[in-house]
Amino acid sequence: MAGKSIFEKAVYDGDFRVLIPKEKLQERIAELGREITADYRGKDPIVIGVLNGCFIFIADLVRAIEIDLEIDFIKLSSYGDEKVSSGRVKVLKGIDADLTGRHVLVVEDIVDTGLSLQYMEQMFAAMKPASLRYVTLLYKKDNVRYPRHIDYVGFEIPNEFVIGYGLDYKQLLRNLPAVYILD
Ligand code: PRP
Repeated sequence: MAGKSIFEKAVYDGDFRVLIPKEKLQERIAELGREITADYRGKDPIVIGVLNGCFIFIADLVRAIEIDLEIDFIKLSSYGDEKVSSGRVKVLKGIDADLTGRHVLVVEDIVDTGLSLQYMEQMFAAMKPASLRYVTLLYKKDNVRYPRHIDYVGFEIPNEFVIGYGLDYKQLLRNLPAVYILD
């Protein structure tokens, strides 16, 4: 019989510590949704998810925002399969929509060093949006090397390697329902 999957070890054997349980994630996302709804009423924003990590967060977040909005995605990579940022950002899929004059809200799962955000700031600002803001579910405040104001932060977290709820370990474990710490 095949050995246990990493997923089973995480969820059933308690090999990984839960950092943010799913109920807390949903509570905070509902709050963020209410705040963003109020701030963007009448603005018909375009919400841009940064793949792959954002896919679960953005799905929950947009369902908590009760105004007209468009959704698009960009795919960046700076980590590959490593735990530490390579220091270089690669655009694996660019944006399809025209952002000129639009209210743009960028959705990240995590801001770690801040490099991806800095890269996107330059790229999106050049497209002349009416406004450009950022929301991240997780923020490693003490690890940021490229500081930029983040408009909406779900949770400030310690400088630990986190997985689940969209975040991967070697492309696995994105499907964990909560955020865990990989010791
Ligand atoms: C992760 C995450 C952010 C970025 C944050 O992406 O989704 O986009 O790193 O790190 P930074 O603040 O140091 O730039 P990753 O490159 O791991 O790709 P993925 O989303 O496909 O997992």
